Amino acid sequence: MKNEEVIVIDFGGQYNQLIARRVRENNVYCEVLPYSKANIDEIKAMNPSGLIFTGGPNSVYDEKSPHIAKEIFALGIPILGICYGAQLMAYTLGGRVETAPTSEYGKTVTSFNCSSVLFKGIPSESITWMSHTDYISKIPDGFKTIANTDVCPIAAMECPERKLYAVQFHPEVNHTEFGKVILRNFVKDVCGCRGNWVMDSFIDNAVAELKEKIGDKQVILGLSGGVDSSVAAALLSRAVGKQLTCVFVDQGLMRKDEGDFVEKTFTKLFDMNFVRVNCAEQFYQKLKGVIDPEEKRKIIGEEFYKVFWDEIKKLAGSNAYFAQGTIYPDRIESGAGASGDKAGSSVIKTHHNMAKPPKDIKFLGTIEPLKDLFKDEVRAVGEKLGIPHELVWRQPFPGPGLGVRIIGEITAEKVKLLQDADYILRDEMQKNGYENQMSQFFCVHTGAKAVGVMGDHRTYESVIAIRAITTDDFMTADWARIPYDILATVSGRITNEVKGINRIVFDITSKPPATVEWE
Ligand code: XMP
Repeated sequence: MKNEEVIVIDFGGQYNQLIARRVRENNVYCEVLPYSKANIDEIKAMNPSGLIFTGGPNSVYDEKSPHIAKEIFALGIPILGICYGAQLMAYTLGGRVETAPTSEYGKTVTSFNCSSVLFKGIPSESITWMSHTDYISKIPDGFKTIANTDVCPIAAMECPERKLYAVQFHPEVNHTEFGKVILRNFVKDVCGCRGNWVMDSFIDNAVAELKEKIGDKQVILGLSGGVDSSVAAALLSRAVGKQLTCVFVDQGLMRKDEGDFVEKTFTKLFDMNFVRVNCAEQFYQKLKGVIDPEEKRKIIGEEFYKVFWDEIKKLAGSNAYFAQGTIYPDRIESGAGASGDKAGSSVIKTHHNMAKPPKDIKFLGTIEPLKDLFKDEVRAVGEKLGIPHELVWRQPFPGPGLGVRIIGEITAEKVKLLQDADYILRDEMQKNGYENQMSQFFCVHTGAKAVGVMGDHRTYESVIAIRAITTDDFMTADWARIPYDILATVSGRITNEVKGINRIVFDITSKPPATVEWE
């Protein structure tokens, strides 16, 4: 049976990963390909079930804007153009695109011709999300208009005989009320996909491929205890058992008892060699006196890799593969997968994700068993492999750990205070059933000291902040409304149980203007 696949051709729009995720929600494998790599011969060779052209910031009349060979529309492969992709289809096939005096932006009432297969099963009027200035003013020959808004006469068009469809709005975002149905109609009814891409078959295939590739050789994996590297470890363990060695660097900046939990999980539940390197003191020494956030990040990152590669040098002969938990968005964000064009996105904070082994360590090759999966798919695989729920559903935790949650100099005492306070917050959120209600919540050591009173004495102790957010994508976030009574209990417990803290504050800032982490 042919493996069904839809390819998203990326013209630089901001929601392109989301389109791929939406397609995969229909159990159809989907990849994002930058338009610059969308070579006709390669596409023919890939023989996809369908193509989706994304939105993008350009105008089709701009010479420098991305275009695509007209031939692609004649391959017989179903195509859905979205926003810029729709305009590109219209323009390339002889229609007309014009620039409107004002942009159409936001939630827009849209009328649909529901006799089109694309709009099967949706009401004739609903909300879509628009974000465009150019618009299609004349459809190409052979096309029919199938949706419109008050200001956009051609909000969608189709030529079913050639399996070409185009929508000016964004079906992939949640604001488009029936966007998921529209994408499903395209994938299932236009492309004819049945949806045979499921996680069970992913695991079986991945394990077979890993066995075949690794043979009798060794594999070394850097395990951080985060979701991605944990799932990669579990998958590799299933494939090659003791041929896998996981290296876990405990740099003393993890949450309370986390290192022990990771060690217990992977030594008790999975078959592998597990090496834990405890190097907290070394990190605290390096961080002594450092207060600049970027400098701290740099030191923590560099030191981590130094310890990590030193350990690996001890283990790796020339007969080992290097494995890591890279996932699909990492590849896209690093420019390896999609548009590769990060222009304009200025660096707010440095985050590191994919590691390159140094030149003096020779591996047989790199293995990235999760490189094609989105986060929610990685979690689904993790659950099926038997990783504990709390690890699979772990909140994001920054690479530099508590290092970016302690403002100012990092010391062992501050780490301990923060770990104890943070543990109480997590404990109360869990007891009250709030642990899965928010995207992220944690404590921050503000570095500030405040005056307090205890009995007859004046105190001068640390101020801890509680940070909690809700978000879909971590690019923007709202502060989470933790109920007052939970906040009250947490505050009472922290100030009573953790010596050295006399004041708790609650961070009520959204992102932007703040970021999620304090540093
Ligand atoms: P910010 O603070 O940038 O956080 O709004 C957005 C998300 O990224 C996480 N984060 C990091 N993750 N290394 C990481 O791997 C980092 O240096 C880092 N800084 C922030 C943060 O926890 C949130 O989920």
